[in-house]
Amino acid sequence: MSPFPPSVLAGSSEGLAEVLATLAEAVDTASTARRPDGPVPPGTPAEVLAAASRALGPAGLPAEGLGTKAALQLLTTVLTEHGIDLSHPRAAAHLQPPSLAVAVAADTLASAGNASLDTYDSGASALAVERWLIGTLIGLAGLGERADGVLTPGGSLSNLMGLLLARDATALRRGIDAREQGVGALPGPVVFCSELAHFSTHRACAALGLGEAAVHPVPVDEHRRMRPDALAAALDSLGPGRTPVAVVATAGTTDFGSVDPLPEIAEIAAGHGLWMHVDAAYGFGALFSQRLAGRLAGLDLADSVTLDLHKIGWQPAATGVLLVSDTTAFTSLDREVAYLNPVDDSEAGYDGLLGRSLQTTRRPDAVKAAATLLAYGRTGMARMVDACHGLARHAERRVLAEPRLELVAPAELTTVVFRYRAAGPALSDELNGALRRRLLESGTALIGRTEAATDGPGSPRRVCLKFTLLNPTATTDDIDGLVDTVLDAGRTCERLFEEGAA
Ligand SMILES: Cc1ncc(COP(=O)(O)O)c(C=O)c1O
Repeated sequence: MSPFPPSVLAGSSEGLAEVLATLAEAVDTASTARRPDGPVPPGTPAEVLAAASRALGPAGLPAEGLGTKAALQLLTTVLTEHGIDLSHPRAAAHLQPPSLAVAVAADTLASAGNASLDTYDSGASALAVERWLIGTLIGLAGLGERADGVLTPGGSLSNLMGLLLARDATALRRGIDAREQGVGALPGPVVFCSELAHFSTHRACAALGLGEAAVHPVPVDEHRRMRPDALAAALDSLGPGRTPVAVVATAGTTDFGSVDPLPEIAEIAAGHGLWMHVDAAYGFGALFSQRLAGRLAGLDLADSVTLDLHKIGWQPAATGVLLVSDTTAFTSLDREVAYLNPVDDSEAGYDGLLGRSLQTTRRPDAVKAAATLLAYGRTGMARMVDACHGLARHAERRVLAEPRLELVAPAELTTVVFRYRAAGPALSDELNGALRRRLLESGTALIGRTEAATDGPGSPRRVCLKFTLLNPTATTDDIDGLVDTVLDAGRTCERLFEEGAA
């Protein structure tokens, strides 16, 4: 007889009951823990991290375990008392939403089952759930019959995979098998993207052996959208030793939510036989909303699309997705492995999704997203998107109405970029940086920071503040409170600067 009761394993029904009981105890612990008043624990990073480490105790494997209850209580306390609270209405820093309860419940179930997506015999029904989700997202994107997709560990990895498939497809068109010969065989590769593209595109080029110098940044217009005329000119002026590999259009730039003109870019790409990848990590969720979906017109023309449901989608990270317009694009990732997918097994239907991914073992992240989309439907998802967009529009109006604040970029999706005004640009840079750190240290608000050309395309980049509003339960009063908190911190910083104390 085993010394362990069945309830130690979450996948058994006894184990699932144990998970529930343990979670109930964690809820009790969390409700009595000293949660900070604001979204961030007050103190400097060194103080907060030292307090969390002290609560955990010295690193090292205890000789005797504390037991499930005590271990979970300890971690719950550490996370509650010294962690960030994304469900707080003044948490507005990153594209990192509060998670939906239904998604967390489904994710717990998925973890309990611990299925993997690489083979039928490691996943079974989890494969069907991922195919359901991919089919649903393909429908939203408007991609055709031949489209396909896969879940990934996030937007950065989806961008890497999109460029990998673009690289291999480009090579194949030239009769080169890039996976055998490497990229040395592809002379002078060039990847076009807007100057506001996410840095993961650049890093992907480095990782894929194209070199970061392969990135050709295309200027943006006054609405922070890639200029198609500049893209066309750049393509036309490429020398004979260069190989255009892809154009990466962004549908929802990280800071501004601006969407590159997809139809125009697609037309140029098609004219040059160029792969079009759309980084819709942030913007894809706008498709849930009738009001905002039109901004992504032309997404159906992409060869590949990055989207993150852990941004607009309210999923726990990671719920990244890569869609492709033609399933054969995945061919270069496919492998036949004796212990996973031998030919006779595959032919008999015992196949999995190994050939869609760079990963082998792969979590069933689709479960939480499928549960969410089934639970809320299009209307429910749209209401959350519209609520967050509405909050961003309200924040934009408040910023415009405040003499001490300057609007840098309007609310396209759910972000608003602005500055606290100070006497002179250099002082403003310093002051805005100090203001945000002050909010973090006091724990009163969690807001973002970035740099932007504040006086039109090509003007100097200045330090700005940013609200990323992804909490659908927040109200316009909460936004007013957030703006008031920023103004208070700004005034305090100004005073400290004047006194030379900052
Ligand atoms: C436009 C865009 N692309 C890609 C990413 C990277 O996504 P992830 O953090 O999931 O890797 C981000 C992250 O904010 C993003 O805004």
